[in-house]
Amino acid sequence: MRILITAGPTREYVDDVRFLSNASSGRMGYALAEAAIAAGHEVILVTGPVDLDVPDGAKVSAIETTDELRMSCLELFPSCDGIIATAAVCDYRPRERVHGKMTKTGQPIVLELVETSDVLAELGAQKGHRWVVGFALESQDPRNNAMRKLRMKQCDCIVLNDTSAISSLENRVEILSPDAETQAEFTGLKTDVAAQLITFIEQRIAR
Ligand code: CTP
Ligand code: CA
Repeated sequence: MRILITAGPTREYVDDVRFLSNASSGRMGYALAEAAIAAGHEVILVTGPVDLDVPDGAKVSAIETTDELRMSCLELFPSCDGIIATAAVCDYRPRERVHGKMTKTGQPIVLELVETSDVLAELGAQKGHRWVVGFALESQDPRNNAMRKLRMKQCDCIVLNDTSAISSLENRVEILSPDAETQAEFTGLKTDVAAQLITFIEQRIAR
């Protein structure tokens, strides 16, 4: 298969030198890319800024903002068999990006934020025969929130993990199907979880 994988954080710039982002290490997405290549698949990795080596054999599209992630995915998804979306996408961006560098005013300032576009929802809506695997990081009411996302983004399954995974080497995931069944649970190093997830996709998701 030819698999699109999104990984790492996005950044939303306040001015030319400052941005909003999150603590995503990118490890889960990079581990999945490596596992998919080891299993004989072609991988295109759309990656935010992370401190990791690109897996040998992966094609890479480096992005920073959610808009760049969106443009890259819209271009690449049609030529792929499916997508695994591990990217920790910023949900909000400053309404205005200040050109140059903001200077202090001596007063409190208010940063107005607007929602970014939901990349996975947009890809899910145009998936056709392609498969879509989403990730959901939840701190409360995990199953219900993950299922709401699965439906909203038209995922074939969603990988639920808890917030302790965000900058860790390990992960514990539960895979939920569109009929809200737990299809599998994997625990261990992200590299081991990744290999099991690729096998699961080969056997249960890819049609
Ligand atoms: N995602 C995306 N574009 C966004 C936000 C999320 O493509 N703007 C993708 C993520 O890569 C992940 C899935 O959607 O695969 C779920 O992300 P998550 O942050 O858990 O869900 P949200 O829909 O953003 O909801 P919230 O953060 O409010 O819980
Ligand atoms: Ca989010």
